[in-house]
Amino acid sequence: MKAAILENYHKDVVVKEVEMPKMGPHDILVKIHTAGVNPLDNMIIHKEVNLIVPYSMPLVMGNEFVGTIERLGTYVKGFQIGDRVYGRMPLNRIGAFAQYAAVDYRAVAKVPEQLSDEQAATIPLTALTAVQALDLMKPKEKETIFISGGTGSLGAMAIPIAKSYGLTVITNGNGANEERIKRLGADQFIDYKKTDYTEVLSDVDHVLDTLGEKELERQFSILKEGGNLVSLRGLPNGEFAVRSNLSFVKRGLFTIAGRKYDKMAAMRKQKYFFLFVHEDGKGLEKVSDLYRARPFETSVDGVFSLDEVDQALQKVASGGSKGKTILKIY
Ligand SMILES: NC(=O)c1ccc[n+]([C@@H]2O[C@H](COP(=O)([O-])OP(=O)(O)OC[C@H]3O[C@@H](n4cnc5c(N)ncnc54)[C@H](OP(=O)(O)O)[C@@H]3O)[C@@H](O)[C@H]2O)c1
Repeated sequence: MKAAILENYHKDVVVKEVEMPKMGPHDILVKIHTAGVNPLDNMIIHKEVNLIVPYSMPLVMGNEFVGTIERLGTYVKGFQIGDRVYGRMPLNRIGAFAQYAAVDYRAVAKVPEQLSDEQAATIPLTALTAVQALDLMKPKEKETIFISGGTGSLGAMAIPIAKSYGLTVITNGNGANEERIKRLGADQFIDYKKTDYTEVLSDVDHVLDTLGEKELERQFSILKEGGNLVSLRGLPNGEFAVRSNLSFVKRGLFTIAGRKYDKMAAMRKQKYFFLFVHEDGKGLEKVSDLYRARPFETSVDGVFSLDEVDQALQKVASGGSKGKTILKIY
């Protein structure tokens, strides 16, 4: 089969013939139709998540997919050959930029019928990120959430999902997306090139940060006393290492790395969480149900072939995102 391979960190991804993936008893063999391309893929190439997930090379790239099941492992339950499924690939075994992938069935969910393969590929990784962030925040209805940088692919899922929890959603980002962001349900939109959000916001209940270190202190300043900040781009802390069941060495390392933000949070009884989205078929099934009950707009930014994977990765790296960049494989 054809697959997009990273042969070594910091190198270009190359598309070439490789062996079919080996299946375990809990795996399904998926023929991949489409795959979402994420900033995470570029971070993997540049070894930026190596401490969280150390990948060995060569690596079949790709963190999320939509496809149909062609084979079932012995212990697979609840799925049949021919089902159209999607998922965030398990952290320790990615490989969605390929014609086939073997995936643990517990990482996937059935795709809502109304969604095309392109639309469905915008969902798994970012929707699970939103759900896992909201699980940490434990918000109550009518509370406010500020989603920074909500005009990209993450915001396209996080905004409607936060709305479905009954939250008031405020986001900032690139002004060219304002109409789309309002259609997704955002209650307030701030153009980051025109308005400084710290001058117009205060006492929000929760912050979902996509901007990381350069903006974290400022985002804490608009959070109410006792509020929660979940960062997708900041430094991991000790709480993350324990929650993720990482080794004692990494617990020590991340406790030191994230201490600055734990201290910042503690000053006003706030909580700092770091999140690295993990696979979760059941969580994704809830997202599918949410979509079936009340379909939300999906945001496809650009579609590339598997052979154009490098262009797709460059597009994601170059900014100006209007949603998800997709690889169309079949
Ligand atoms: N930890 C995790 O598990 C996890 C999961 C999902 C995403 N993430 C991270 O979350 C971030 C966003 O992901 P994404 O897929 O949504 O990326 P994306 O599609 O590239 O979108 C990023 C958006 O943020 C906007 N932006 C840039 N600088 C900004 C600023 N200073 N203030 C407000 N908005 C700004 C961009 O606008 P311009 O067009 O003007 O640049 C763009 O619309 C990435 O860093 C990604 O790695 C992490």
